Formats: sequence, structure tokens, C-alpha cells
Amino acid sequence: MRQIEQDRFLRALRRLPVDRTPIWLMRQAGRYLPEYRETRARAGSFMALCQNPELACEVTLQPLERYDLDAAILFSDILTIPDAMGLGLHFVEGEGPKFHHPIRTVQDIERLGVPDPERELAYVPAAVRTIRQALGHRLPLIGFCGSPWTLAVYMLGGGSHTGFATIKSWAYQQPEALHLLLAILADACVLYLQAQIDAGVDAVMLFDTWGGVLSARDYQHFSLPYCQRIIHALAASPAHQHIPSILFTKGGGLWLESMAQSGVSAVGVDWTMNLCDARMRVGHQVAIQGNLDPSCLFASPARIEQEVQMILQDFGDYPGHIFNLGHGIEQHTPPENVTTLVEAVKRFSVRG
Ligand code: CP3
Repeated sequence: MRQIEQDRFLRALRRLPVDRTPIWLMRQAGRYLPEYRETRARAGSFMALCQNPELACEVTLQPLERYDLDAAILFSDILTIPDAMGLGLHFVEGEGPKFHHPIRTVQDIERLGVPDPERELAYVPAAVRTIRQALGHRLPLIGFCGSPWTLAVYMLGGGSHTGFATIKSWAYQQPEALHLLLAILADACVLYLQAQIDAGVDAVMLFDTWGGVLSARDYQHFSLPYCQRIIHALAASPAHQHIPSILFTKGGGLWLESMAQSGVSAVGVDWTMNLCDARMRVGHQVAIQGNLDPSCLFASPARIEQEVQMILQDFGDYPGHIFNLGHGIEQHTPPENVTTLVEAVKRFSVRG
């Protein structure tokens, strides 16, 4: 029984039967937790927190002490790769991530090197080793990276605040240069995930947060193939091929079939999809992770429980569901509502 509990998340990723639906939450370690805010203040800045393996380990474990979650996720960020490439990551209060040296020209792209994860990013595998040591094999640990497209959105100085005009101009005006950037990023992501696996993560997730802003044709052009390249590289490597993978494209519901055919173990879906439709569309190919609207965590306990029941019912009594939010947890979420959510998933998903 103990083994099943430890492996609930990994079994669900492989679409094996489980005693109840596993749950973890995107951004489960973060600003909604007062203990996170305290550790972050001690670290001085978000990047200092990421770069200190002991503190990164501390915040990784914080949500697991409060809630009965079924997986831990490495505390880090997707933008560590562009930072290691020399772009100079920093966060401006209320404006999100920014780079001191965003990419402006084709020459800037041509000058980029692929960071060595054990050198420029050594703090990331070091954090994984520290967390693994502290966690033992009590729970699985998830490693992650951003999709090349999503990283490129930030590197080219764009983001939701610019309406993605910058990266889309590159896509229409200088597609070859953009493809070069995406290829360099895909290579960087492969080495980065391999280093995380070597250091001890049990599963990996690709965050394609901005894939959904592309047209259907351009998603197949600029986002999915580079995610696929990462997945295929891991699958071709004997030391890494046993590690399950999750691909989350926010707003990717329209292309769920092609995401499912990319070679991943699971697809993450946002809250805009109905899980019954999602399951029918991907059939038996992959597991599905999702998809409570993060805003539901501002509702009453009764409403949260009702929503959990509906999502579990939509998916139905099949193997291969990992309960999660449809995107990262909101900063102002009341922590006690997360207890309601986790307990509801445990209670309503028990298999007889
Ligand atoms: O999930 C976890 O608990 C693990 C840690 C994690 C963080 N970021 C910590 C973080 C993970 C998996 C990420 C991924 C990430 N980072 C994504 C993809 C997922 C998503 O949410 O779409 C993206 C797009 C980023 C880039 C990024 N980093 C943004 C947009 C922000 C928020 C900026 C802001 O000020 O609102 C960050 C910073 C960040 N990453 C925080 C955390 C806990 C908050 C920073 C802080 O403490 O001030």
C-alpha cells in the first residue's frame, strides 16, 4: 500500500490503476503561502532563492508540509535558461519577468551559446540533489523547463503586456532567425532536463504557457516541433528514456490530438476544456493532467467541492488522470481553500 501511495502520481502518468486520483498544483510553492514569503524575504530576491539549493529545497517542501499532495516540484523557474545565456533576468514588481539584455537582432541570436547545466546552471541540479536527499523517496519529484516558444516570447522582450507583437513580428518577418533561436533553446532544454534527471527527478514537465497564442498552423510550426524535439531526445537516451513527461500548452485544447501524438506520457489541459471531451479525443494514448480554474480557489468550500466532483465525474472512472489546476495558483489564493481542494480530491476519487 505504501508503495502505491508513493507512486500514485507516477502510476497515473503511465495510465495504471490507482487507489485514488493523485493531485499536485502548478506553482504549489509560491507567494500565496506566508512561509514562502518569509523564506523569499530571507533570500533577498527571487533569483537568490532559486540559486540557493538549501532555500530552494525549503520552499519546495513547504506545500507538502501543509497539504497531502502526491508530488513535489523543483523550485526554480523556466527563465533560468535565458538567464544562463547571459540575458540578465530580473523581476519588476507588477510587470513580471524582464531581461537586461533582451534579444534585438539576428546577431544577438547567432551569438547565443547552449549553457552547460553543470556549470552556468549548476544551482539547479544542486537543488534537485538537495531536495531528493530531504524528500527521500517519500514522494516523486517533478523537474521542468519552458517550451522553446515560451522562452523565446520572454527573450524577445515580449509577453502578455505587449500582446505578443514582438515575437509575432519575428515569426512573420524573420522566421529563419526565430527557428534558429528555437533550435538553440531546444538543445539547451534537452541538456537541462537531462541534468535534472541525472540529479534525481522522477518526471519532467514542459511549460508551453504561450503556445496558445499561435494560430493552429503556427503552433505546428513554432511550438510543437521544438517540444517534440526535446521529448524525442530524452526518449533516444538510455539514461533518460524511462522518465515520464508532461506537455502543458495553455490554450492548447484545439490541438490536443497533436500534443498527445508528440511522444509525451501526459498532456496538461487548462480549464477551458471539458475533461470528458479531452479524454475522448486523446483516447488511450496519454494521461491527462488538470484542470480546475485557479479562480475557483476563491469560492466557498462547498463550491470548490462541487467543482472537484464535476471534474472527477467528467474524466470518469478511467486510469490516467492527475488532478491539477488549469494554470498556476493565484498569488492571493487563501491557503485554507487549497486544503479544501486537496481533501475533496482525496475523498471523492477513492476507488472501491
Ligand atoms: O510550480 C512550482 O511550485 C515550481 C516553481 C515554478 C515557478 N515558476 C516559481 C516562480 C515554476 C514551475 C515556474 C514556471 C514558470 N515561470 C512559467 C510557466 C508556468 C506558468 O505559470 O505559466 C512561467 C511563464 C514563468 C515565468 C515567470 N516567473 C513569471 C511570469 C513569474 C511571475 C512574475 C510576477 O511578478 O508575477 C515568475 C516568477 C516566479 N516563478 C514566482 C514563483 C513562485 C514568483 C516570484 C516571487 O516570489 O516574487
